[in-house]
Amino acid sequence: PAPTAGFPLPTEHTQKAYDPAADFTAKWTRADAKQIMAQSNPNVAPGENSMSPDVTMPEIPEDFPAMNDDVWVWDTWSLTDEHANQISYKGWDVIFSLVADRHAGYGFDQRHWNARIGYFFRKTNADPAKDKWNYGGHLFLPNSSIGNTEWSGSTRLMKGDQVNVFYTATTFYDVAERNAGGGGIAPDAVIAKALGNIHADKSGVTFDGFKHTKLLEPDGKMYQTKAQNPGFAFRDPYTFADPAHPGKTFMVFEGNTGGNRGEYECKAEDLGYKPGDPHAEKVQDVQNTGAYYQTANVGLAVAENKDLTKWKFLPPLLSANCVNDQTERPQIFIQNEDGKNKYYLFTISHQFTYAAGMRGPDGVYGFVGDGIRSDYQPVNNSGLALGSPTDLNLPANNPSGTISGQQNGRQFQAYSHYVQPNGLVQSFIDNVNGVRGGSLSPTVKINFKGGVSQVDRSFGQDGLGPFGYLPTNVRVGGEGLY
Ligand code: FRU
Repeated sequence: PAPTAGFPLPTEHTQKAYDPAADFTAKWTRADAKQIMAQSNPNVAPGENSMSPDVTMPEIPEDFPAMNDDVWVWDTWSLTDEHANQISYKGWDVIFSLVADRHAGYGFDQRHWNARIGYFFRKTNADPAKDKWNYGGHLFLPNSSIGNTEWSGSTRLMKGDQVNVFYTATTFYDVAERNAGGGGIAPDAVIAKALGNIHADKSGVTFDGFKHTKLLEPDGKMYQTKAQNPGFAFRDPYTFADPAHPGKTFMVFEGNTGGNRGEYECKAEDLGYKPGDPHAEKVQDVQNTGAYYQTANVGLAVAENKDLTKWKFLPPLLSANCVNDQTERPQIFIQNEDGKNKYYLFTISHQFTYAAGMRGPDGVYGFVGDGIRSDYQPVNNSGLALGSPTDLNLPANNPSGTISGQQNGRQFQAYSHYVQPNGLVQSFIDNVNGVRGGSLSPTVKINFKGGVSQVDRSFGQDGLGPFGYLPTNVRVGGEGLY
């Protein structure tokens, strides 16, 4: 594409596949992420959405319904198989969500310190506009998980009637921090799983018998530890199989580049400018802005046994060094395009986690390549697939902090976007013009092919589908029973 006046060209990425164990990490570069601003409209009235409608989530109405009156609901995932199919179990659709008590005296922004995994179920083929999700309660018995707080993950059906719940076991040490939401002793985080049984009958779905196993702790080399950075990220496991490597199970997760906080040095590859680009930044200038504090990566691990209780780290799939500090809830989605498997890596990120000199919205970002490890090409050249309506000409805000007066009231309308089969994207509502959420957003649809994505505004009403629409596409058991 022709360069936008005043902006650098994006980095060239080949999409070439490497062995999953190879020492090659794709880079989401500053040159790539600068395309977000290159594609944004500099002339909108303050507070309007400055992004293209193709990458903007349609506006959520302020009078959205609460999915449940007793718990706030945020990060959510479906019961899946190893190919990201969404499983109907004996006639029921089942989803898992982080939940926190709405009546315990803390606010929605304190949810992270009080998070538990809950689950919901409803009849397969229910009318998503009318039939509510039934709340099944907490998935695990009190004090049974590893850690004292349960953060995001994914759930796989195994052997027909068992589930493996991969989750982040977060441990807070400071009660004051838990209640006040931040500022205390930094929490620990390990990746864990729980193997348990799923049951279904006419009245619904239940789980029991969970056995918890700790799977991974950061190594400090490829993946940053708490000792290296109290604000480290090590979480959000998502497991899958790759038809190109039969018999293996892989896991992607959110990490940070190993090493002590503040010691990373921005490199020419992190910037990714073409030689001679008149709009390139100099490595030293970027380093001087403190951009080295932002060191997100998407990690990869491979299972070493069939029970998926032993895992080995592989080098990160993607890094965003000197670009952004968080690439959360990563997932791999394989799509056949013109007879060839293309691998889409999706991950969510925030506006406030961008490095100095970078600007982008809260939303989901995508990367495409020829294998799980490849020289990933950011979708739409920038990486941005779907963001909340934002005026990117105004400075970045933090969802739980102060918000600059003129900003679009929907800049934090939704987060934790998760891409389902057929490009259906679900997320949770955070803040719609000051009305706090804690409930699932209307599902939207993005069409993506060849590394280009576009919001489908013919889906639902002007692009907004039913609230919390997570349909299943594969049936297991119970055909005709319920
Ligand atoms: C995304 C996220 C996840 C984490 C969870 C904690 O919304 O930050 O990375 O597991 O929320 O609440």
